[in-house]
Amino acid sequence: MGKNCLITGATDGIGLEAAKAMAEKGYDIYLHGRNAEKGRRAVEQVQAVGGGNKVEFVQADFASLDDVQRLAEDLNARLDKLDVLINNAGRASASSIEYSRDGYEMTFAVNHLAHFLLTNRLLEKLKQAPGARIVNVSSIGHKFAPFDIDDLMSENTRPSNAYFRAKFANILFSNEFARRLEGTGVTSNALHPGTIRSNFGKESLATRIFYTVAKPFLKSPEKGARNLVYLATSAEVEGETGGYYANCKPATPAPETNDPVLAGQLWEKSEALVRKAGYSLT
Ligand SMILES: NC(=O)c1ccc[n+]([C@@H]2O[C@H](COP(=O)([O-])OP(=O)(O)OC[C@H]3O[C@@H](n4cnc5c(N)ncnc54)[C@H](OP(=O)(O)O)[C@@H]3O)[C@@H](O)[C@H]2O)c1
Repeated sequence: MGKNCLITGATDGIGLEAAKAMAEKGYDIYLHGRNAEKGRRAVEQVQAVGGGNKVEFVQADFASLDDVQRLAEDLNARLDKLDVLINNAGRASASSIEYSRDGYEMTFAVNHLAHFLLTNRLLEKLKQAPGARIVNVSSIGHKFAPFDIDDLMSENTRPSNAYFRAKFANILFSNEFARRLEGTGVTSNALHPGTIRSNFGKESLATRIFYTVAKPFLKSPEKGARNLVYLATSAEVEGETGGYYANCKPATPAPETNDPVLAGQLWEKSEALVRKAGYSLT
């Protein structure tokens, strides 16, 4: 049986380039996005480079836990196993706080909570694939604002800090999965892809200006995707788990991301938020 890979946020930027590279390596691709027309175009692009493997668009708006649950149910019904899950979809903070359909701060909801629910609900399929890998796309930005476990909705900070906190949550979540999955053969690692000239940052004027001005100095989405594909496929990191990488090498995250108590608290609070919205992790 061939290997397969689900990449979230693969209709654009780093995720789309990672989908192309994974297809070239022979994986069947489940290419996630929220926009059906962008999804159709992305599938065509991936098919053009892939070796005739399956490339399928799967739709879910991560601003809705209902959509996330439906996506997981659909995949659980159709897949025997899942070899690689790349949690990549993400958005920047807006200039004022916005809320998801479930009433949670939007950046936290899309970047962290949606992936928290999706990964938990796909866990049995990951365990069915020998040496399955979870790759969590964080950012060096996780170091730019203090994480506050008592302010997950970013009510007591600048709206722009919501993104940095969500990316911090990505690493805590990645490490907590690594601990909980010990002995199952499933690994979980996080990474910073570099600063990339993608479509990222469209949510606020400040990030749009930054990415426009800095564009000539930034890495291409193709280069940004390399670290994702490295963690998803390289023999060098086979069996490695709980790590944080940049430029396809181990890197040093903020020390608090390695705090298992904090990671456990985030897990419990995330689970409570999911339950409060009417969903469960299994
Ligand atoms: N670009 C950078 O400099 C940089 C640096 C560090 C980390 N990162 C991280 O890298 C990841 C990919 O970013 P990128 O640079 O490739 O950005 P991008 O070009 O904007 O792509 C982001 C992807 O996520 C999807 N997405 C956004 N909101 C969504 C939602 N509510 N529901 C479902 N999908 C959603 C987008 O779909 P649409 O096309 O429909 O918007 C797109 O497919 C993100 O997690 C980001 O935090 C990026």
